[in-house]
Amino acid sequence: MKHIVIQGGRRLEGTLTVQGAKNSVLPILAATILHPGRTVLRGCPHLSDVEASISILRHLGCKADWEGEELAVDASTLDRWDVPDHLMREMRSSVVFLGAILARMGWAEMSHPGGCELGPRPIDMHLSALRQLGAQLREESGCLRCTARHMTGREIVLSMPSVGATENAMLAACGAEGETVLVNAAREPEIADLQDFLCGMGCKVRGAGSSTICIQGGQPTHDVTHAIMPDRIVAATYLAAAAAAGGEVELRRVSHGHLSTVTAALHAAGCQISGGEGQVVLRSEGRLRSIGTVRTAPYPGFPTDAQAVLMAALLRAQGATVFVENIFENRYRHVDELCRMGADISVAGRVAVVTGVPALCGAQVRCTDLRGGAALLVAGLMAQGETRIGDIFHIQRGYEDPVRDLRALGAEIWME
Ligand code: EPZ
Repeated sequence: MKHIVIQGGRRLEGTLTVQGAKNSVLPILAATILHPGRTVLRGCPHLSDVEASISILRHLGCKADWEGEELAVDASTLDRWDVPDHLMREMRSSVVFLGAILARMGWAEMSHPGGCELGPRPIDMHLSALRQLGAQLREESGCLRCTARHMTGREIVLSMPSVGATENAMLAACGAEGETVLVNAAREPEIADLQDFLCGMGCKVRGAGSSTICIQGGQPTHDVTHAIMPDRIVAATYLAAAAAAGGEVELRRVSHGHLSTVTAALHAAGCQISGGEGQVVLRSEGRLRSIGTVRTAPYPGFPTDAQAVLMAALLRAQGATVFVENIFENRYRHVDELCRMGADISVAGRVAVVTGVPALCGAQVRCTDLRGGAALLVAGLMAQGETRIGDIFHIQRGYEDPVRDLRALGAEIWME
């Protein structure tokens, strides 16, 4: 099994262009099947989760191929409506294909996505939204069997601003007759990128980024080329790495607005943050200070996906920082691994208290999940000695090539 190895203690200096956003490209790949024609995605990140989506598209009968740095999909040959269990297990967020398959085919079948490292990942809001549009859904022996011979648009109120449920409802509503209004929709920037893609394809969608999204179903679609937005969580990860290791790093292809809660936290921790259009510069002396309480929340609140990497950056901060994880039930699995490196973290339910220690020691650690793995990268950069990180397949789900990126910034990091 491959490991990422880091010899800690090096400051980070240099410039990095941020990859395309995983959490934008995944729903957009599902949305490509709404159009029986060609879609080209620019800036599509090379990730295992993207490859999992490509496998699903090919299973459904579509063509999906890399053309240089672009990903081209031809959904004109789509002729199936089922996502088999082995593909669902590869990536549970494939549930977002459900709404799109129903809109295009009127049928859909997939195994229940089940839970993941972050805890049970219910899809009750997804299924409720699809039922309200007129889909019949049966859950039997771990399988979802759905028919939607005719869907009709209507007002759908989400009990909480679920990202996935918002996306699934948007895609299904594109195939419904009339207008659908999603109330209490998620406001994440990736939803706005999905809207831009859908409108580029000919769909009529407006309001993304606000809590109310309107979709006018049944629009004729046409070929589209779309540039995937930059990944704000990858940007947050590399900013946290620079904050932890010390140095001066410039990130290009980032949106300040998408990172404001993260840059505010790093500034409070003692980093200097500046930048112009599309770029952020972070300067850090490496010794940070604690920042009170960090509460994760739906966008525009502090992103749950940046909780682990910010926690890692604060492991040597002066004082204690309290984290409250309000989105997922089990998103502190990285804590035990960080404690193997000498971190002082105590967890009680959704609360984690991080008390800074003078130094971290390199150790053998294992990734527990995608962002927990990224936190180990951040901790390894500032630890004394060598850190060997195993189960890196978790990291490869969301980061194109962290060894390449961090080495370019001066880190002593390699794969073996
Ligand atoms: C998306 O997951 C992201 N994944 C997650 O990123 C991100 O952490 C999350 O949104 C929150 O921002 C993708 O976009 C592929 P939710 P999603 O539906 O859609 C509960 C990463 O690291 N819930 O907003 O699954 C759910 O259990 C990943 O890149 C229900 O109870 O998030 C969770 O506690 C991790 N019923 C909360 O809502 C439902 O029907 C938020 O989930 C749906 C969700």
